Amino acid sequence: ARAWRGVVEEYRDRLPVTDKTPVVTLLEGGTPLVPANRVSQLTGCEVFLKVEGLNPTGSFKDRGMTMAITKAAEDGAKAVICASTGNTSASAAAYAVRAGMTCAVLVPQGKIAMGKLAQALVHGAKLLQVDGNFDDCLELARKLSVDYPVALVNSVNPYRLQGQKTASFEIVDALGDAPDIHCLPVGNAGNISAYWMGYKEYSDDGLATRRPRMFGFQASGSAPIVNGAPVQQPRTIATAIRIGNPASWTFAENARDESGGRIDAVTDRQILAAYRMLAAEEGVFVELASAASVAGLLQSVGAGHIERGSRVVCTVTGNGLKDPDWALAGASSATTVPVDAGAAASALGLG
Ligand code: F0G
Repeated sequence: ARAWRGVVEEYRDRLPVTDKTPVVTLLEGGTPLVPANRVSQLTGCEVFLKVEGLNPTGSFKDRGMTMAITKAAEDGAKAVICASTGNTSASAAAYAVRAGMTCAVLVPQGKIAMGKLAQALVHGAKLLQVDGNFDDCLELARKLSVDYPVALVNSVNPYRLQGQKTASFEIVDALGDAPDIHCLPVGNAGNISAYWMGYKEYSDDGLATRRPRMFGFQASGSAPIVNGAPVQQPRTIATAIRIGNPASWTFAENARDESGGRIDAVTDRQILAAYRMLAAEEGVFVELASAASVAGLLQSVGAGHIERGSRVVCTVTGNGLKDPDWALAGASSATTVPVDAGAAASALGLG
């Protein structure tokens, strides 16, 4: 056994780096693939959770960011910029610190979780809250990266998807082959595209005997790919995927169609129920958007789109600690007691 070295070193031969590339890493990746006993019981499938909230900044974005910042460093960039619903900006801010770069982030005013805002700030990013939605932020970031000396590190930067495809490699390495079905939330649609790229690459090179069917899930108030048209005013409580015009739309449709999968919508109510179930019955605390993968799996099994007995991986993309407001919203408040064992015992119902 040896220590995990981060996704660029672990999968160096499958990534666009050379011996001279200055790798910028926080040792991301190597995340657990946790058997989901309760979800397996509910679906009659063999379900695993790829727990991406255990990456260094608490989301899957770190896999792509190590590549994007590494390549920006190789190109001599001094500054990076991104638009974000919160996780990309948290990741960019941290990796920019590692690279000695400045980082500018554009986020939709009032629509990002508190923990994510805290991350961008504590890592010293220059943060602008834009009076618009994510799609407006991305348009602004693109313009600024064309007109000023700042490298764009959103997933329109192809190195991001290169880094993110390593999650598929890890899954196949852990299971010994690709699963039958892969479920994940869809926002800007980069991650589903990256996973599909990874699965194809491994199967083309004979490291997997098959490829999974890709199942992506959007929130029903922000479901442009499902609707077949951009959503002008995307709405959902899952702010991470509150996106009306995904940049990787076509890639995501290709992943769906080439794999024989689906992209469907789940309601906020379904997302919230899956979020609570994962926390209360699996012991896995994810953020709301992440629970869309499990909400979608439950829906798809119910609708007959996924067969019982399938081996399924659900990516849970971000850590629940990023957005404690939603955890507290559903919880009863804690009882206060004096420093007294009897009072504590009776408050706990111990007898
Ligand atoms: N889950 C979480 C927790 C996310 O933060 C995102 C995207 C997604 C799922 C969807 O992934 O965009 O590749 O389809 N967050 C981006 C951000 C948009 O700015 O952090 P996608």
